Amino acid sequence: MKTLILSSSLSNSSRSFILCNEVFKCLSSKGSKCTMIDARNVSLRPTHNKPTIQMEALSKQIEETDNIIIGMGVHCYSINDSLKILLDNTFKNAIGKFYGILCAAGGEKSYLSTMHLTQICMNEWRMIQLPRIVYATEKDFTNEKISSKDLLKRIKIFTNDFYTIGNKLLS
Ligand SMILES: Cc1cc2nc3c(=O)[nH]c(=O)nc-3n(C[C@H](O)[C@H](O)[C@H](O)COP(=O)(O)O)c2cc1C
Repeated sequence: MKTLILSSSLSNSSRSFILCNEVFKCLSSKGSKCTMIDARNVSLRPTHNKPTIQMEALSKQIEETDNIIIGMGVHCYSINDSLKILLDNTFKNAIGKFYGILCAAGGEKSYLSTMHLTQICMNEWRMIQLPRIVYATEKDFTNEKISSKDLLKRIKIFTNDFYTIGNKLLS
């Protein structure tokens, strides 16, 4: 199974990137062929401008992967600006693909913010979402590392579910 893990945050100390990294390790150890895309290394150009070479390369990777895991940080109870640019400009080949969400937020009350990503992926490309989200807050991290055992447990469950259902959808 080929999984593209897309970390969409541009923050130097991105917590959603840390989530993506942990899932990358867990899913790779189960035998998935994971590719990590860190948006901080992708030159982004907004809609109505010619996409950059890296954005075009990402569109191709999205076309070729079996499934996708998206890391997002919550901004104003919604997805962040860089993720919106990535969705609007690189996801046209994601039609019908299975995907999962890893979300970092400041506080506990913004968990419904991931619904905006669900709405976009389901309505625009009929993508199929894993009905389990990893939602983490500032409290789950210490010195840019995951310090919550509960979060590590939830990441493991997410990874197991994603791996099992992802493989079933391929067979
Ligand atoms: C512009 C902006 C808006 C934010 N809005 C929210 C919010 O609505 N709810 C929340 O819980 N956290 C909010 N946060 C905090 C971020 O979700 C938090 O810092 C998270 O770690 C961001 O993900 P990242 O570290 O991967 O970039 C906001 C942060 C910024 C910079």
